[in-house]
Amino acid sequence: MDDLHTSADKLHTSADELTRRAVDYISGLFSGNAGGHDAAHTMRVYRNALRILEEEPGADREVVLLAALLHDADDHKLFATKDNANARRFLAANGVPEERADRICEVINAVSFSANRGRVPYSVEGRIVQDADRLDAMGAIGVARTFAYGGEHGRPLGDSVQHFYDKLLLLKGLMNTETGNRLAERRHAFLEAFLKELEEEGGKESI
Ligand code: NI
Repeated sequence: MDDLHTSADKLHTSADELTRRAVDYISGLFSGNAGGHDAAHTMRVYRNALRILEEEPGADREVVLLAALLHDADDHKLFATKDNANARRFLAANGVPEERADRICEVINAVSFSANRGRVPYSVEGRIVQDADRLDAMGAIGVARTFAYGGEHGRPLGDSVQHFYDKLLLLKGLMNTETGNRLAERRHAFLEAFLKELEEEGGKESI
């Protein structure tokens, strides 16, 4: 962020410029974190959201993209912030009006799997970002992230495999958008193929 910008300049920040600044902001926020919730995860969620947006013309594009970019900026596993403080700091510093920041934070708060116990976000923007985030827990990326997270927390490989059954295999049935559903098919099939192969090699009891 550039302190030399006057507030009048900030009001005229283009959507693309705002997105670019959000990418810089989250890169700084996550620097040094090698876990599954890092800047690369955020960028994959952002790209998933862009794909889903192509088929959801009624959605507020700026809200979706900023929520996708900021969705883990206050993740409780990484930051001890309250009330989306990191996300709000970025939005306020870039002249995003408070009511719009509230909407973006509502979307962010509707996305979390654990916090929402399977409740479907009421806004189309929330449903898109939730799908975008969930897609990143599936497929080859999902496998890599699950074992990286387990390793980081000192868990045996078998515990990470259990996570497939407890959460990852359920995600396909929880997608909100048509695009999300379609993208989830292939990623789900890969999770199943991985587990089948693991079974061939001795199953989770063997690891
Ligand atoms: Ni996430």
